Amino acid sequence: MRGLELSDVDELIKYWNNPELQQFLSRTRIASRDEEIDWIRNTWERRRKGEAYIFGLFLHEQDQYIGNIEIRIIDNIAQRGVLGVAIFNPSCWNKGYGTEAIELLLNFAFSSLNLHTIELEVFSFNKRALACYRKAGFVEIGRKREAYFKSGQYHDIILMDISATEFANLKNLRE
Ligand SMILES: CC(C)(COP(=O)(O)OP(=O)(O)OC[C@H]1O[C@@H](n2cnc3c(N)ncnc32)[C@H](O)[C@@H]1OP(=O)(O)O)[C@@H](O)C(=O)NCCC(=O)NCCS
Repeated sequence: MRGLELSDVDELIKYWNNPELQQFLSRTRIASRDEEIDWIRNTWERRRKGEAYIFGLFLHEQDQYIGNIEIRIIDNIAQRGVLGVAIFNPSCWNKGYGTEAIELLLNFAFSSLNLHTIELEVFSFNKRALACYRKAGFVEIGRKREAYFKSGQYHDIILMDISATEFANLKNLRE
């Protein structure tokens, strides 16, 4: 997990506009190379301001760029953040990378940023993401019923969260 560099842009545009990936993302963002360059520059600015921490995910062995993960601060008083994650290369799904990346990010968010709770939203049809979030320790806290429309059908948006205490307890159990 590391901050993004402009040299990462070619790998990003190779995968980002893929509909197989975009169907799971709330902010459908079809982007050109120049727009992705601006987006990467923007990640530096948001990190400098303490608004959001966006990292690229890389496989150790080949230094292969496979996705992004971010934590966005939404409440500085209650210390709340929102997690977003996308492994953009489908050949890398279901290999445990998402769970590992989320655990790394949660550790950073709770231990270094001192966040208190972290939440997320996921479409009800995204079974893989739901299973991954549950494995990482998130629990369902509610639903926006039929709040998402796609391909002629309404779907629930599921809300999940995890607290710093819950994460610490899970970490103790795993060690
Ligand atoms: C969601 C995402 C981050 C998960 O990362 P990942 O590396 O694929 O997930 P993991 O391999 O760590 O865990 C996936 C789990 O889902 C399970 N799973 C996969 N498809 C499933 C299905 N249709 N129903 C139920 N469980 C399913 C897998 O078996 C695995 O659980 P297991 O390890 O207990 O067997 C990744 O798939 C991704 O980026 N997808 C596209 C974008 C996206 O959906 N982003 C999230 C938006 S909210």
